Amino acid sequence: MCGIVGFTGRRPGAALLLEGLKKLEYRGYDSAGIATITDGKLVVRKQPGRIASLVEDLDGDMPEGNVGIVHTRWATHGVPNQINAHPHTDSTGSIAIVHNGIIENASAIREALSKKGHVFESDTDTEVLVHLIEEMYEDSLELAVAAALREVDGAFGVAVISAKEPDTIVAARRGSPLLIGIGDGENFVASDAAAIIEHTRFVVYLDDNEIAVITPDEHHVTDIDSKRLEKDVSTVDWDLEAIERGGYPHFMLKEIMEQPQSICNTMRGRLLEEQGSARLNGLAMTDAQLLGFERIILIACGTSWHAALIGEYMLEELARIPTEVEYASEFRYRNPVLDEKTLVIGISQSGETADTLAAIKEAKRRGARTMGIVNSVGSTIAREVDSGVYIHAGPEIGVASTKAFTSQVVALALFTLRMGRLKTISVLEGREIVKALNALPTQVATILETADEIGEVAARFNDADNVLYLGRGFNFPVALEGALKLKEISYVHAEGYPAAEMKHGPIALIDESMPVVFVAPQDGVYQKIISNMQEVKARKGKVIAIVNEDDPELDGLVDAKIFIPATLDALSPVLSAIPLQLFAYHVAVHRGCDVDQPRNLAKSVTVE
Ligand code: G6P
Repeated sequence: MCGIVGFTGRRPGAALLLEGLKKLEYRGYDSAGIATITDGKLVVRKQPGRIASLVEDLDGDMPEGNVGIVHTRWATHGVPNQINAHPHTDSTGSIAIVHNGIIENASAIREALSKKGHVFESDTDTEVLVHLIEEMYEDSLELAVAAALREVDGAFGVAVISAKEPDTIVAARRGSPLLIGIGDGENFVASDAAAIIEHTRFVVYLDDNEIAVITPDEHHVTDIDSKRLEKDVSTVDWDLEAIERGGYPHFMLKEIMEQPQSICNTMRGRLLEEQGSARLNGLAMTDAQLLGFERIILIACGTSWHAALIGEYMLEELARIPTEVEYASEFRYRNPVLDEKTLVIGISQSGETADTLAAIKEAKRRGARTMGIVNSVGSTIAREVDSGVYIHAGPEIGVASTKAFTSQVVALALFTLRMGRLKTISVLEGREIVKALNALPTQVATILETADEIGEVAARFNDADNVLYLGRGFNFPVALEGALKLKEISYVHAEGYPAAEMKHGPIALIDESMPVVFVAPQDGVYQKIISNMQEVKARKGKVIAIVNEDDPELDGLVDAKIFIPATLDALSPVLSAIPLQLFAYHVAVHRGCDVDQPRNLAKSVTVE
């Protein structure tokens, strides 16, 4: 949540900072602001709303200066108005800060500083922090920031500038992602490499409680006690076009359409056709170690949690290992029973979700072995876990997750295959699974060819106020995911349920205005789901069915059919999810919603 970019160099900073910030808008879009040092003075401009409002406000009046920091906000403390927008300044108007995270003891610090005469304009915890830095300032911004951060509880990624040290940016992190970018005679700070890869691919990822100081020609990193640290420089290996819309009206549509490729990328070099198994180098575990686990716990949030549920079905069905799925936010505050025979797998697209990260740390603390299934290379979760599988779906910008979901499911299938071959899956069964996995990209492409027809189905139902999604077995989590996609981008109320559970409540909602989406590939529970369709039809509900092929049994039962190719039951979620992504997309577009930046949401949730 919240995007941060900073620049110090020898060219004007404002325009390139704002360009970089636009690439982070998915992190939050409640307000935006910029601070530069112009002719030795701090200049701050900010606006509520999207970055475009700020850019409009600055049109023809761009602040000058070769050092600056910018911010796009997802509001935590205080409504998203101009006063609460970042950057915030100290009482002398010479220090500015941008902040991502929450300072938990802000009230106590605010009270103490007020007694010393500090006056606060905003409702934010961030303004308290910059006043604290002012209070600590003697003659070094670096030391003042370190001293202030030693006093605060909570999470932060911050970038700070001061008119007294006009070419320096001090940045620090605890819990919120931050990296520095190393250029030639210029340096950067950003909460995500996307903001700076146009200028440099060399980055240093900060770890918790580290402070970075950058000037145009120098960078160094210290711990919070100002002890210098040696940090590795990493190279970002993806291209700018991966974070551009490439002719599509929305990132979400581009990312839906990319799925044949992203799924291929998840599997590349990992399928062992002859052995009917999968090679996952990042696992870094021997067969004996894998066999030593008696239980697996999958932890995640949001869409990644739905992928985890599919993983549970796969691991229990195919690898016969007891598996549980937990919401990361619940797991971390429970008293879970864990030991070294438990493998805890965190699933996260961004690799930055605060609750998932905290849950992984808790699992490690309690002696479990941890593993990550992560998209964002070099992210905090990827670095925290003992071993991992990158899904390699490429950057995902649309707030509603699509290609990351299908790649997470494929990565879980690869892990299930690897684990299952050690236990219950025979080589012949393994080869069947490998064959089915190999076929997925082409099958996904076949579904995408029918995108317009799915759009037509969506057009018939886009006035509905409520939609119910039902599925069974492997496709129950897909029903949850379909409902989530619809509600997050079109604001239509949608619920996902196991189809048989409909009778225990949701059936009360069904009438002629209620579309019910059945995820019903011809799998082991197909006949059961036909019965559930009949129950809906008997109450005049409208049935939309995702099926493998036409079937006379569906006549008179179904108002709209969407076809997907047949595959193994365990892999069918990869295919059945896709029409639901397209359905939600088209409903949202029809309803005039901002598909890529739905209200109140953010792509990366780095607060609890
Ligand atoms: C946010 C996003 C969702 C995502 C969830 C978990 O809510 O809007 O799309 O599924 O966070 O994020 P993660 O990056 O951990 O998968």
